Amino acid sequence: MQRKGEALDLDAGGRESNSAEQTRNRFNSEVSARKYARSLHGTATHRRELLCVRRLLRGLPPGSKVLDLPSGTGRLLPLLVEMGFRVTEADSSAHMLEEAQGYARTRGIAQGVEFRVEDAFLTSFRDNAFDAILCNRLFHHFREPEVRRRCLSELGRICRGQIVVSFFCDRCLGALIFRLRNWIRRRTPTDRIPIPRKQFTEDVEATGLRVVQTMATRRWIAKQWYAVLERPQAEAA
Ligand SMILES: C[S@@+](CC[C@H](N)C(=O)[O-])C[C@H]1O[C@@H](n2cnc3c(N)ncnc32)[C@H](O)[C@@H]1O
Repeated sequence: MQRKGEALDLDAGGRESNSAEQTRNRFNSEVSARKYARSLHGTATHRRELLCVRRLLRGLPPGSKVLDLPSGTGRLLPLLVEMGFRVTEADSSAHMLEEAQGYARTRGIAQGVEFRVEDAFLTSFRDNAFDAILCNRLFHHFREPEVRRRCLSELGRICRGQIVVSFFCDRCLGALIFRLRNWIRRRTPTDRIPIPRKQFTEDVEATGLRVVQTMATRRWIAKQWYAVLERPQAEAA
């Protein structure tokens, strides 16, 4: 039953949908791709994310095969290319990928980069295809643990090394403001919901992966955190 103030999650045809479908649909248009391309590029948030990603991937040798999924408009591609990786940019939205390709061409870094339309829940990549995966700004759109776990399982299947994944953590000022805003508006949020770190760790462990490192983009201030995931040694061998 629908609770007071809670929006029913319906797709365009009026059917109930989950956050996986909603997130896929939301970004899958030319307008949202163009808007997203302008939204974060060059901001302080963007610079902080670059810093975290650089630190978390610095142990990976040049030449490693890295999947950036979802790539969005290719915001993180210049960094991955600069670090010497062989990069695949993948996203469920062809519009986002088109922006990413255009961006890569204007930066002169498109050569050697693969661009693919892929769904993070069911990719066409073979098992252990990548040395590392970067999954930036996707999981905060997934409110159901089972959706997060399905996606983590697929990332774990196609990666033989580390998976760097971001999520929104509930122990910070940003999360407090988020809760206050929703409380004032008597709204039950359905997107970008910060979760306890313990909850994210449980999701990771439920898929047979483990968290080996975490990093906040701005400790106690910003919601965005990174976790580095790995398969236990014996299984990865
Ligand atoms: C907030 S953007 C983040 C993009 C990029 N990682 C960044 O940090 O700029 C979310 C992206 O996820 C993509 N997306 C949504 N659902 C997806 C799915 N199931 N598989 C692959 N990509 C998906 C959207 O098309 C969109 O480009």
